[in-house]
Amino acid sequence: MLRKFRKLHSTYRYATSSFPDFSSAVRNAADQFFYREFLSTSPIPQASNALLQKLETAPLTLPPRALLGNGTQTVDGLSFLVLLAKALHAHTVFEIGTFTGVTAFTLAMNLPTLTIDTLDLPAGDLPALDFERDDKGYMPLRRRRRVFEDKPEGSRITQHEGDSARFDFSALGKTFDLVYVDGAHSYDYVANDTQAAFNIVSGSVGAIVWDDYSPAWRGVVRYLNERTDIEIHRVPATRLVLWLSSGAKSLLTQP
Ligand SMILES: C[S@@+](CC[C@H](N)C(=O)[O-])C[C@H]1O[C@@H](n2cnc3c(N)ncnc32)[C@H](O)[C@@H]1O
Repeated sequence: MLRKFRKLHSTYRYATSSFPDFSSAVRNAADQFFYREFLSTSPIPQASNALLQKLETAPLTLPPRALLGNGTQTVDGLSFLVLLAKALHAHTVFEIGTFTGVTAFTLAMNLPTLTIDTLDLPAGDLPALDFERDDKGYMPLRRRRRVFEDKPEGSRITQHEGDSARFDFSALGKTFDLVYVDGAHSYDYVANDTQAAFNIVSGSVGAIVWDDYSPAWRGVVRYLNERTDIEIHRVPATRLVLWLSSGAKSLLTQP
């Protein structure tokens, strides 16, 4: 079933990229159709309504729409990350894949005592492991100005430069309440970054969130689908997948 869906989906991707006049309405409808099919064959269950409803009670502030676009987190994704960090009473976040910095900025804006460490490739560097062809478009060719740089929130954000396959995560210890995995999307990178995330996430009340569980990123999907050894959940209306430590689970599910 999954193989049939993949074949159909790659034919569709070929058709949409080869015929640019494919109308956007048809494209949107087809995208939605494929996304529904993708979710219906996913082995990863959706997060429970009880958990989601609990998160949704806190207020939040979103960044200007102009800061969101191709490659950044979506409004629903940002909302979830902020609400999760608030519910966990997070003090520390590690992000793999800074890009424009809008997610780091949004988290810092909503949690006034939060500190964030965020890692991205140095400008012009290519990663050590295999990456997906589409990853290249998001890698910095020249130094990228991050949205938090001229903001007061920027003083609580530490920018690290390096390849996540070579970065020394062990020096950080298991000190992060939330780890957000959003770097390169190949199977090898998601495996590497997931291992790093488990090495630094707090053992008491910690959470890991992966972005881009979507048909466009096959490496992410294949890797996460294979992780039947850990309890992970999809977050509805987003491309996010969530893992909670047992302490975080108790905190978020207690009445
Ligand atoms: C999709 S963007 C991240 C979006 C951002 N996290 C957000 O929420 O708006 C992916 C980022 O990962 C970075 N990246 C790709 N490969 C990486 C690697 N091996 N190590 C560190 N960062 C990497 C890219 O340079 C890019 O900035």
